[in-house]
Amino acid sequence: MAEQKLIIEGGRRLEGEIAVQGAKNSVLPLLAAAVLCKGTAVLHNCPRLSDADAALRILNCLDCKCSREMSTVTVNAERMTSNEVSTQLMREMRSSIFFLGAILGRTGYCKWSMPGGCELGPRPIDLHLGALMKMGVDIKEEHGFMHCTTPKGIHGAKISLAFPSVGATENIILAAVTAKGETEIHNAAREPEIVDLSNFLNKCGARIKGAGSGAIVIEGVKELTGAEHSVIPDRIVTATYMCCAGITRGELVLSKTSYRDMSAVFPIFEQMGCSVYTYGEDCIYINARKSMKAPGKIITHVHPGFPTDAQPLFMAMTATLPGTTVFVENIFENRFRHASELNRLGARIGAEGRVAFVEGVGHLSGAEVEATDLRGGAALVTAGLAAEGVTRIGKIFHIDRGYENIEDVLRSVGASIKRN
Ligand code: UD1
Repeated sequence: MAEQKLIIEGGRRLEGEIAVQGAKNSVLPLLAAAVLCKGTAVLHNCPRLSDADAALRILNCLDCKCSREMSTVTVNAERMTSNEVSTQLMREMRSSIFFLGAILGRTGYCKWSMPGGCELGPRPIDLHLGALMKMGVDIKEEHGFMHCTTPKGIHGAKISLAFPSVGATENIILAAVTAKGETEIHNAAREPEIVDLSNFLNKCGARIKGAGSGAIVIEGVKELTGAEHSVIPDRIVTATYMCCAGITRGELVLSKTSYRDMSAVFPIFEQMGCSVYTYGEDCIYINARKSMKAPGKIITHVHPGFPTDAQPLFMAMTATLPGTTVFVENIFENRFRHASELNRLGARIGAEGRVAFVEGVGHLSGAEVEATDLRGGAALVTAGLAAEGVTRIGKIFHIDRGYENIEDVLRSVGASIKRN
């Protein structure tokens, strides 16, 4: 089959309402958590994403029963027998690493190979492995596979993370909930997705305290039941559509979202000249019709700082604003690959190491470009909406990892975008 592309005719102002999908970064660890349940896990608000499908294939390979009806996914791991994940499945998605903690927690053994994922520079998993070893896991490498065993079972430990890694924090929680004794995680990640995972596990009978803070305490329990849970809204998808409103000088309502998790990005929209209001528990209104200007500096940090995943989207938006914006990327080493693709659309961005300079230009012009990774791809969509003429974006499988029907969503608010 010929490679699919997104084709955008830019220059249309976006107007209308978008209901925000569930969070990719929550649904993946939640699906891994289902492995620990001796009962049925029912997850509502699950977005249809290629990464979520990959997680469901891993669950099938572990003999878990999975089904989907609309946005509700049901997983029953009661008869789980296998504890091996094929190399192909591990390579499909970096987040397959979460399954390690969950499978070990459930069966005490796991055979796996290094996971795949986004090209954001080296993404080591030393923090995951170091913590699991402290909890009694033995790891041996043989014929390209890692064999993880737990000769004396998994036990609680005091773990101090050198960096508050999201994935490592989630993996430790998954391994610790049914471990013997108490686990303490210091310098834990504080992202909302950690809170969502802990809320689900606590509904299943786990005893996790402190999620959302830098110190998490987990008291191991004998076993977990199933539970019903709704995945939190995707804060990066919310930011993406807000940037699409910004770059087209449009006006959007984002519903089914959560403004509480957006505190680091709101002030930047306001600095640029957008009006942003929240109403009810779950609605955000953005109006970008006034004149806008570059926000000066955007520096990524761990939560509650400005999220690295939103950096490419803001880079696309600031490319069209008068003035200079300096981006400092503190989380990943190689996260400016979208800059050269944005330059093909007429942007003026120079990147060196962890710093990028964006000189705002009057207008962008459509061209052939390629998604370099998930959010970098979404940045090209954002830019394409404002570029004069036609933008064709290749390698859109990156975008499908994290955005549910992006072209239908954007068409519903006035964009001219199709998949071909
Ligand atoms: C998660 C998110 C991703 C987001 C990132 C940072 C998911 C599925 N993905 O990725 O969208 O961009 O958080 O908010 O939730 N590191 C190590 N050793 C480790 C683990 C991480 O050095 O063992 C480093 C990484 O290379 C990176 C930094 O820590 O430089 C952050 O990584 P981490 O927080 O672990 O991100 P992920 O969980 O991979």
